[in-house]
Amino acid sequence: MHRTALSLAAFLVAVPPLSAQDMVGHGGPVGALDIARDMLVSGGFDTRAILWDIHTATARNITRFHDGNVTAVAMLPQGQFVTAGQDGRLALWESDGRAPVFASEAGASALASLAVSDDGAFVAASFWDGRVQLLERATLNLLDHQAHSDRVTGIGFLPSGDLVTVGGDLRLVRWGREMDVQARIDLPDLPNGLTITQGRIAVIFADGALRLFSDMGALLPERFLTERPLVSIAATDADVAAAAIDGTVWLLEGADLTQRHMFVAGPGPVWALALDAEQVFTAGNDGVIRRWSLAEGTSLGGAELAMTQEYADDSRGAEIWQSCAVCHSLTPDDHMRAGPSLHGIFGTPIATQEGYDYSSALRELDIVWTPRTVAELFEFGPEAYTPGSRMPEQRIGDPEDRQALVEFLERAAQ
Ligand code: HEC
Repeated sequence: MHRTALSLAAFLVAVPPLSAQDMVGHGGPVGALDIARDMLVSGGFDTRAILWDIHTATARNITRFHDGNVTAVAMLPQGQFVTAGQDGRLALWESDGRAPVFASEAGASALASLAVSDDGAFVAASFWDGRVQLLERATLNLLDHQAHSDRVTGIGFLPSGDLVTVGGDLRLVRWGREMDVQARIDLPDLPNGLTITQGRIAVIFADGALRLFSDMGALLPERFLTERPLVSIAATDADVAAAAIDGTVWLLEGADLTQRHMFVAGPGPVWALALDAEQVFTAGNDGVIRRWSLAEGTSLGGAELAMTQEYADDSRGAEIWQSCAVCHSLTPDDHMRAGPSLHGIFGTPIATQEGYDYSSALRELDIVWTPRTVAELFEFGPEAYTPGSRMPEQRIGDPEDRQALVEFLERAAQ
């Protein structure tokens, strides 16, 4: 598929062509990703977290809860997920939830990272002011602990259930359940994040090195990948992915950090990575979540997806619709994506598709959808035209493209 004219906010940079496999939904940089089975969760500077079905590359749920960036996200077993923000809050969500089932109080310090224990019973969050919070999901008991004297940049659970943190104070610490210190070591440089692989601790550093530590903090293999700071890391037991501030991504063997592939995901930083057994997801400043083959280190962009053919005609309008189809179906009553089905939209008042749970902001507006109002929605953008909408900010700058889109909808949405 071709790149559409839909520019998401102001992040227009020269990027590889988008495909139906890439996920376009955030209205700004994406700084956090996590994956579990067939669901991916992303967190953005647009204050939203989006839950994606990775098979269909469609969005299932868009949450807008945090006051400021969503700085960290984590999947829980059974499709629930956790989000954390610049507002210092930690929120627990059901997969289709419109409001969190639990949320901590807002705080003075932003949340930096999140981790979930292997059994899903505990969630840990780390803060810029050096604190760590440990949440027991069954009791919702929240333990607050001053863990480092500087920003806690990485957090993870060992298979035993013990917690590991790294901080701007150049320390790595292993903690027991009561936040009692089990091991503490000094680090050679500034750590930017950590993940656990095969029970060991993989840490990325500002000096461009990826270092493995034993569960008690003994230094195992280290790899100097680049001169640039490494800014994101993710791992399974088999593979480790790490990315640098210039957009370079390395795929390495989990066992000994042997390099398998290296590729450039885009022109700017890769702020977030997620991987499963087959693919790696990358995200950065342009807000697009891209997918790459783990085995080949190549873009999976070329692959065909059912969605591309869904309403394919050769028109410009159908081409623009591809970026809407990530969140909207045109089949009657199909509200499985993050937005409502737009079947029969023209002539209906806003927020009246049956069976879709709209935001209260949208329900309070007084607009009737016509080709003109839908065109205006994307001329001025959802934030100005439908304030408080959960639909991320996006505009279609060219009047001919807006016209092509509504003409397509007149054909396909009726
Ligand atoms: C990332 C997901 C996403 C994308 C991409 C997206 N939308 Fe939406 N859209 C939503 C959500 C969510 C809502 C409901 C908002 C609410 O309840 O606040 C919505 C609402 C709407 C509505 C109002 C529907 C109603 O019943 O009142 C229209 C019209 C609409 N979108 C059209 C589009 C078009 C056209 C595109 C592509 C140019 C598009 N959207 C792209 C998520 C998205």
